[in-house]
Amino acid sequence: MAQSGKPLLDVRNLYTYFFTESGIVQALDGVSFDINVGEPVGIVGESGCGKSVTAQSILQILPRNGKIISGEVRFKGYDLLKFNEKQMNKVRGKYISMIFQDPMTSLNPVMRIRDQMIDVISLHRGVDEFEATEIAIKMLEAVGIPEAESRIYNYPHEFSGGMRQRILIARALALRPELLIADEPTTALDVTIQAQVLDIIRNLQQKYNLGLMLITHNLGVVAETTKRVHVFYGGRVVESADTRTIFKKPHHPYTRALLESIPSFIQQKGRLATIPGVVPRLINPPKGCRFHPRCKYATEICKTRPPVVEIEKGHLVACHHYDKLEQWENAYEKYEKPHKS
Ligand SMILES: Nc1ncnc2c1ncn2[C@@H]1O[C@H](COP(=O)(O)OP(=O)(O)O)[C@@H](O)[C@H]1O
Ligand code: SF4
Ligand SMILES: [Mg+2]
Repeated sequence: MAQSGKPLLDVRNLYTYFFTESGIVQALDGVSFDINVGEPVGIVGESGCGKSVTAQSILQILPRNGKIISGEVRFKGYDLLKFNEKQMNKVRGKYISMIFQDPMTSLNPVMRIRDQMIDVISLHRGVDEFEATEIAIKMLEAVGIPEAESRIYNYPHEFSGGMRQRILIARALALRPELLIADEPTTALDVTIQAQVLDIIRNLQQKYNLGLMLITHNLGVVAETTKRVHVFYGGRVVESADTRTIFKKPHHPYTRALLESIPSFIQQKGRLATIPGVVPRLINPPKGCRFHPRCKYATEICKTRPPVVEIEKGHLVACHHYDKLEQWENAYEKYEKPHKS
């Protein structure tokens, strides 16, 4: 079981706020989750739920108006929130790498790919330029860039969007980090290219026994890539379980609603299932369970904060009525079939 592994990353009770002219945005409101050594984990939730802010908080790359109010971010046992900037630079360069949604914004358009890759490699791996170039070429080959030996001298615009994302994956993994944070890595790509990029991430995750924090608003993306999923809503984790359980026996009404909005799932049911209402603004968030204004099961008690309950080993749910919802039908198998064609 994934849960029996050693924790690589352990986030506890993380509160991150933004200070704006219109008020305080309570973006993270007590976020707790973990990722084990070598474990691929999905972070899922609609836009605005706090997924990117969680990643930014872990790496301490928040925008200026953002502040971590309290909590712990333990990486290999060390609390990163107690690290100084120099120590964090080392963590960011060597131990935890991140890739983003839009590969173009992470690449310098006027620099050759080689020059954008070898600096960090020679710095952190203590090798000369020649060796660093060799390492970079090997990584580009590993992510499937054809003719990497000559293509490494090209500029970003000479590659397609999918190829650019591969280059960023190669750069992120050249230093053999122990954790890769991928924030919506395929959202900006065509559907067919999305599948290829996910394949690469999945293969490298296994090859390097990489801890993976795969952030996505699309539950379908995590189905075959991750072993465990943490579902975010309104700056909190509302459900955590192994991926199969999330698809087969989801207990949180929000997780169920997310499942019903997977496109291939809708096709099979022959009806469109969207989640009514909108993601809450986090300046004046709903009291108690932040999902209550949109939840069809909501009652008076839902205006108080639901406790997090471990309903089975490793399956955590934050809902007052988790035990009253009827069992979910076999969504996982149903979903998998059309996807595998
Ligand atoms: N720089 C900022 N200033 C104010 N609010 C912000 C800022 N960045 C993010 N937020 C707010 O924090 C919340 C979480 O955002 P984010 O983590 O980006 O969501 P997502 O799950 O889509 O990645 C949202 O309500 C968003 O509006
Ligand atoms: S606590 Fe209440 S409002 Fe929140 S998800 Fe559960 S039933 Fe719905
Ligand atoms: Mg985001």
